[in-house]
Amino acid sequence: MKISDKIRYVGMNDRQTVLFEHQWPVPEGVSYNSYLVVDEKIALIDTAAAAFKDEFLSNIKEEIGDRKIDYLVVNHMEPDHSALQAVIRNEYPDCTIVTNAKAVPMIEGYQGLTDNIKVIKEGESLSLGGTTLQFYMIPMVHWPETMVTWCPEEKTAFSGDAFGCFRAVPEGCLVDGFVDFKEEMTRYYASIVGKYGQTVQAALRKVSPLGIERICPTHGPVWEKDIPEVVGWYDRLSAAKLERGVTIAYGSMYGNTAKAAQAIAQELENKGITVKLHDLCEENYSYALADVFLYDTLIVGSPTYNAGIFPPVQSFMEALKARGVKNRRFAAFGSYTWAGMSVKLLNALAAEMQFESVHEGLSFAQGYSSDKFNASEIVDLLI
Ligand code: FEO
Repeated sequence: MKISDKIRYVGMNDRQTVLFEHQWPVPEGVSYNSYLVVDEKIALIDTAAAAFKDEFLSNIKEEIGDRKIDYLVVNHMEPDHSALQAVIRNEYPDCTIVTNAKAVPMIEGYQGLTDNIKVIKEGESLSLGGTTLQFYMIPMVHWPETMVTWCPEEKTAFSGDAFGCFRAVPEGCLVDGFVDFKEEMTRYYASIVGKYGQTVQAALRKVSPLGIERICPTHGPVWEKDIPEVVGWYDRLSAAKLERGVTIAYGSMYGNTAKAAQAIAQELENKGITVKLHDLCEENYSYALADVFLYDTLIVGSPTYNAGIFPPVQSFMEALKARGVKNRRFAAFGSYTWAGMSVKLLNALAAEMQFESVHEGLSFAQGYSSDKFNASEIVDLLI
């Protein structure tokens, strides 16, 4: 597919995979984006996932026929983008791999390739004829070897995972409205890149002055029309610029903690507060994570299970911790049968993450009733 005279899309949509990275649901698919820059010399920017070998090679041939690929630029070594490097080298034996020093051992480790690798440094350029590629390191967005390839003549940033999102791309790869992809970009960011907010901020400071007019990420649409919105949204997510609103995330074994969650949500709605309710037993926790990256308050509910936190809720809390999430207003609630522990343990985890406790937590024994559980005790403190 033609992005411009010089830039061609040779990636593909994956509508078969149920769980990206074997953990994140992709009900609307995901794309593995790869690009050719076609000039006197031809550069391929990243490859694709292993399952798409034939489609990938066919897409390349469709764009360049019998011409050869001169350079394979490796921006990122995660196997959703790097799995076909050896295939490319086999098909185009003279192609030079262009990458930075940190990627070199990974290329050997994953693909067994050690020869004809050109190691470039920050800011270095590579001429393809009329067009140039320049390389800027953006370590930990989201692996240490990650870099952006910038084509100044096309004002195009090949940004790797940065500005990526879940969802298959439409024909032509361009979209009119960022709004259609916003939710899946947020969930992608929270799930995959969320731990690295500070390095994303550093990367934004580095690439913003380039005067970008086109972003070609490794997942999701090519961005042209909505660049200020896309860059602004990434800035917001990575700088944790939070909206006033409440994420309620809970797990429930027999429905009692669920009823308490619904009571809190109802109270919040009655008071006009934005509330997002997530049942961690019914949906993947990435959906709740996405809202934690948007809203300033988190309320977590769990029954006591084996004198601890119910495992689906424990996993969610550990996911927050792993991403370095902090500075949220927090309260816990939950049910128990003979010894209530979950609220105490949730509060301890929240304290580790430097959350601000807005309430000591509400728990109740056995079955839910509004007499035992007064949701407004928490809600009144949030207003
Ligand atoms: Fe899409 Fe970090 O790989």
